[in-house]
Amino acid sequence: MAEFKLPANSRVVRGKTYYSSGTAKNLKNFQIYRWDPDSGENPRVDTYQVDVGNCGPMVLDALIKIKNEIDPTLTFRRSCREGICGSCAMNIAGTNTLACIKATEEIQGDVRIYPLPHMPVIKDLVPDLTHFFAQYASIKPWLMAQTPPPPDRERLQSKEDRAQLDGLYECILCACCSTSCPSYWWNSDRYLGPAVLLQAYRWIADSRDEFTGERLDDLEDPFRLYRCHTIMNCAKTCPKSLNPGKAIAEIKKLMIERR
Ligand code: SF4
Ligand code: F3S
Ligand code: FES
Repeated sequence: MAEFKLPANSRVVRGKTYYSSGTAKNLKNFQIYRWDPDSGENPRVDTYQVDVGNCGPMVLDALIKIKNEIDPTLTFRRSCREGICGSCAMNIAGTNTLACIKATEEIQGDVRIYPLPHMPVIKDLVPDLTHFFAQYASIKPWLMAQTPPPPDRERLQSKEDRAQLDGLYECILCACCSTSCPSYWWNSDRYLGPAVLLQAYRWIADSRDEFTGERLDDLEDPFRLYRCHTIMNCAKTCPKSLNPGKAIAEIKKLMIERR
């Protein structure tokens, strides 16, 4: 069997352990991926003992506690702290999710935290999402219509048409789904991935949009759309309980119907 090894400077090594200095009884280990491109050192996993009895309930609370009280060099993104902005997406205990809505007590044993998989890392838990958002921009994520809007009001929809957007508009573009998709891991240069395709369908399904044909033309490509092989990791991991795989299937159905 072929054996593949990472280049020597990419291998993740064991890092430092930060022991709790107090007398706390409710200690939990957080094993966290660390990498600083300026240091020239290998990535490593540092271990932090955290008194979870004296900490907020979510994994993000523990990360903030570590940064504030133990190691200010730990780097991660966060903003809203309530599952709305998508910026705290990371791999926690083997699953991509949002640190701010993942309860620490749900995790048995040590809490292992890595950046979203198969993305370039900027530092520690911060992935580089430049390509992901360029792909998002490529699907023209805005309403396109030639008919001028009514002068005195918004473009209206029936309740039924509006309901077509349920399960789509809630997407916060956290990238948990795309970075859990094996097809996206191997072909992200050309495959758009579940998050961007769900967003593409959000505009295809919008009754006010008048460029459905053009949007489908843009996706009619062996890579951009058809690299989805219905693996469904995307739906399993989505922290907002959305189903990008279903949205992709709807696009494929429309492709067949228009032939
Ligand atoms: Fe995140 Fe879910 Fe949107 Fe994917 S579909 S980007 S996992 S919110
Ligand atoms: Fe990937 Fe989801 Fe399709 S995991 S292959 S995008 S169903
Ligand atoms: Fe905004 Fe977690 S901090 S989603």
